[in-house]
Amino acid sequence: TAPAAVIVAIDGPAGTGKSSTSKAVAGKLGLGYLDTGAQYRAITWWMLTNGIDVNDPVAVADACAKPVIISGTDPAAPTITVDGADAAGPIRSAEVTAAVSAVSAVPEVRAAITDLQRSIAAEAPLGIVVEGRDIGITVLPDADLKIFLTASAEARAARRNGELKGKEAGDLAATREALIKRDAADSSRKTSPLAKADDAVEVDTTDLTLDQVIECVVTLIEGVSAEK
Ligand code: DC
Repeated sequence: TAPAAVIVAIDGPAGTGKSSTSKAVAGKLGLGYLDTGAQYRAITWWMLTNGIDVNDPVAVADACAKPVIISGTDPAAPTITVDGADAAGPIRSAEVTAAVSAVSAVPEVRAAITDLQRSIAAEAPLGIVVEGRDIGITVLPDADLKIFLTASAEARAARRNGELKGKEAGDLAATREALIKRDAADSSRKTSPLAKADDAVEVDTTDLTLDQVIECVVTLIEGVSAEK
């Protein structure tokens, strides 16, 4: 018989290494990978390019069922399209990053994206690593393993600046400010705020290398897989 599919939820604020860790772990273990932040970014990009006022929750709610968002779950080459167009590049723009917290706070947006996420997870044959902000609590409360990644604001800003290098890297202080502002918005919104599930394993990555975080998460997943 085929091994049971293992569902892993990885949550945490920006710059904790969620994406790099989730992708690497999924690749090593042959699991699918879903970047839920990319989906919120994709819907935000569609709103911006279609002239919807992202600060008007009613307009955002009215429009949010229109775009067709498709996520490819191969960890070696994750993809995202909006109405058939490749969105991987534009969703990382500073404009989208600045608008995404407002769009993702709208309950209708969360409901639509949550449905999408649940169906993707249900269809992953060997299981999937789903990373985001509300996966362990809201999207997949029955996940086999929940991990909550943290790191100091300084470490997170330094990593984010490193990622942006050559693209839109600003100074460290500005990155840190923007990141703290986005975390505060994501943590204080009414619907499904960023939070650690009671049954999540918290991993503070401040003083760990990416390889160490990957190793830690792989060990945790192997532990729950063996129990299934
Ligand atoms: O992980 P990221 O920086 O790409 O996420 C972009 C934004 O999407 C983040 O600021 C808040 C939102 N988001 C969310 O509300 N829920 C999730 N599960 C994932 C992301």
